[in-house]
Amino acid sequence: MVKLVIQDRLARTVEVDARPGVSAMENIRDLDASVDAICGGMCACATCHIWVAPEWVERLPPRSYEEELMLQDSPNFDPQRSRLSCQLLISDECDGLSFTIAPDE
Ligand code: FES
Repeated sequence: MVKLVIQDRLARTVEVDARPGVSAMENIRDLDASVDAICGGMCACATCHIWVAPEWVERLPPRSYEEELMLQDSPNFDPQRSRLSCQLLISDECDGLSFTIAPDE
């Protein structure tokens, strides 16, 4: 298991034992006050928007062009920290990954 440390939409810190090999969204969508992920991970809704902790930004693979386009339309877009959690694959290297779930849009 890989530990994720999340700040949910109620500003609570939650630790999640995540499964590697699936997206961050799949690992957190069933939590209370979590992402909506209404498109089911198709990079088509941005309701799985998260802000990665600053110390993790450079440690993750860069955003794809499609992910970048979706995020730039968000009023909560942070050029450094924003990610779509459905496009972020969890691996063993993500142990300790910390992020905040962006506000509902
Ligand atoms: S779940 Fe829709 S873009 Fe991620």
